[in-house]
Amino acid sequence: MRPKTVGKAAIGGPFELVDADGKVFTEQQLLGRWSIVYFGFTMCPDICPEELTKLSEALQILQKHGRTIGSDDTYTLTPVFISIDPERDSPARSDEYAKNFHAGFIGLSGSMDQVQATAKSYRVYFSKDETSGDDYLVDHSIITYLMDPKGNFSEFYGKNATAAEIAARIEGKMLAYRE
Ligand code: NI
Repeated sequence: MRPKTVGKAAIGGPFELVDADGKVFTEQQLLGRWSIVYFGFTMCPDICPEELTKLSEALQILQKHGRTIGSDDTYTLTPVFISIDPERDSPARSDEYAKNFHAGFIGLSGSMDQVQATAKSYRVYFSKDETSGDDYLVDHSIITYLMDPKGNFSEFYGKNATAAEIAARIEGKMLAYRE
């Protein structure tokens, strides 16, 4: 019998955001395939570009191993970028930004309430710097979440994880997965 890990249900769960077409996007649309979820903002000067470049490299490694990446139901893993700066990042802008790093990405945004609720469910911290006018930065957690095809949290990768490590760990989780 596999133990139900304590806290497994505590990360992720139902959310409602908006996709590049202006349509509602929920966790339901990620079911049936693996996903990685990263929160950031398109004007992030360094951390987000570094992390998304790294994730793109991990996705390319997985593709070389025959794993498919993208939003289609036949694909194996969907990378998701969620903006925590919805005041400046429209859903379309978030999507275009994420797709610069890997075409398989889905970029999402929404109202501040929607983004706050989603960040809360993933236990993601973010805080806008209110002191610097329109050129503000947003301090935020640097975590990539791996979610299984049932929408359950599988594991997370921090800033120190390399692309090769992330790819190997995702593949390991995929191979070990039993419904
Ligand atoms: Ni960032």
